[in-house]
Amino acid sequence: KILILDFGSQVTQLIARRVREAKVFCEIHPYDVSDEFIRNYGAKGIILSGGPSSVTEGDTPRAPKIVFELGIPVLGICYGMQTMAQQLGGQVMTAEAAGKAREFGYSEVRAHGHTALLKDIADFTTAEGHGMLKVWMSHGDSVMELPPGFKTMASTPSCPIAAMADENRGFYAVQFHPEVTHTLQGRAILERFVHGICGCGTDWVMGDYIAEAVEAIRAQVGSDDVILGLSGGVDSSVAAALIHRAIGDQLTCVFVDHGLLRLNEGDMVMDMFARNLGVKVIRVDAVDDFMGKLAGVSDPEQKRKIIGKEFVEVFQAESKKLVSAKWLAQGTIYPDVIESAGKGKKGAHTIKSHHNVGGLPEDMHLKLLEPLRELFKDEVRELGVALGLPREMVYRHPFPGPGLGVRILGEVTLKAANLLQRADAIFIDELRATVATERDVAAGACTEADVGKTWYDLTSQAFAVFLPVKSVGVMGDGRTYENVVALRAVVTSDFMTAHWAHLPYELLGRVSNRIINEVRGLNRVVYDVSGKPPATIEWE
Ligand code: XMP
Repeated sequence: KILILDFGSQVTQLIARRVREAKVFCEIHPYDVSDEFIRNYGAKGIILSGGPSSVTEGDTPRAPKIVFELGIPVLGICYGMQTMAQQLGGQVMTAEAAGKAREFGYSEVRAHGHTALLKDIADFTTAEGHGMLKVWMSHGDSVMELPPGFKTMASTPSCPIAAMADENRGFYAVQFHPEVTHTLQGRAILERFVHGICGCGTDWVMGDYIAEAVEAIRAQVGSDDVILGLSGGVDSSVAAALIHRAIGDQLTCVFVDHGLLRLNEGDMVMDMFARNLGVKVIRVDAVDDFMGKLAGVSDPEQKRKIIGKEFVEVFQAESKKLVSAKWLAQGTIYPDVIESAGKGKKGAHTIKSHHNVGGLPEDMHLKLLEPLRELFKDEVRELGVALGLPREMVYRHPFPGPGLGVRILGEVTLKAANLLQRADAIFIDELRATVATERDVAAGACTEADVGKTWYDLTSQAFAVFLPVKSVGVMGDGRTYENVVALRAVVTSDFMTAHWAHLPYELLGRVSNRIINEVRGLNRVVYDVSGKPPATIEWE
């Protein structure tokens, strides 16, 4: 496995993702973990991340000395390269001191192809026979003088030491960012480091992981009982399936049905877990409680708070009945861990805000079991499939914690929830049933590579929104005066920014027709064409 020491870069997570994609296990830890931790970790190699600081200032982060004393390969990236250079006796200067411009964005570096790291990796070759890499750089400081024993591994006209290596000691460093996809050969470079240089095998596979995780869960909980709040979302579902595999009936799941879920979601969860997998699931019908608390409330933030609080109360009341439970299982995944660690993260300048529903209160006196803590979302999905959950469920679009509560604008009523659930189901149904064609490519709605995929897979999140306004319509010979729904579909990779999806008109037309014909109470459908920013994905 590989140890990644984090100096606070915004893209450190991507290093871990690329390494895991190369089927090598790795973890991110802060740069100032103890020597003992690093020594005992058993890494085959260490990667030093980028970061926002400057090594030209005295009190900025440095790698623990032991990193360079263990006799294992080290790869420094950006700030990681600068601190490596400075700590091993080279010289780093700010752009101002060196009389050069800062460098942000796309760049082409010439690889001196003799090193094990970059040998035969290039995007193109120049007339003189030099291998060239298209990379993404983002730095103010530069290494101006190599440390003893190092050779230049790559250069650009403005950055003569764009990468360096001391191959005898297994030290490599790159000024550019191989972890971002803009560095086209970045994946190849990181694979070369972990496989070729560190000698890691490709043993990070889900099938083996299950056996390991099952053992770990058994060792952790022994004969204790465990409870888990099952939401129907991917993370809690996969956690439930995994824990059930490990301890069977020692696990009890509590599924709170607040009436603000997708159409038939409750039945689906019961079918999948209770019926197919034989998991003990207590279904709590809390629809009336939630609706009662939400009556007359139309402020979005207040609605969120009520739903969150009520959820915790219902769950707590139910779990108190399970007196034997000693553990509370949660579907926390690795990005949650990194993000909450980031709140006090050393070295980082800005913190990304996120809005998962708050955790359950500490006074439940239960120990926490979080078997997915080490996994990224795509790994959780793979694990779910390996555990026998239906692929369709595991690859579903995300669904917000407060559910339809933030998709029914204004006051939440059962009637609105029912109309919305049915409209939403029709939309999703049509997205799943419609594949992209050459005509969509010609219309600029998608690319050639998308042909044959469903529009559900081509969008990141899609749903209907209930608007508390009525408009006039005509059906048959009669006048109608009914509600409007908006359709929302977005394409995004991280949900921080998003484009509205260019769905084919025919598809939108079909969805609109079906909704108006099949859902009495809705007589108008509109499509949301706002990006994020300035709009958000959800309407509330
Ligand atoms: P916004 O609306 O902020 O949504 O652009 C970004 C992503 O977050 C989801 N979302 C939530 N998820 N609790 C959640 O668990 C929430 O309160 C919440 N609000 C938004 C949203 O569905 C989208 O995927």
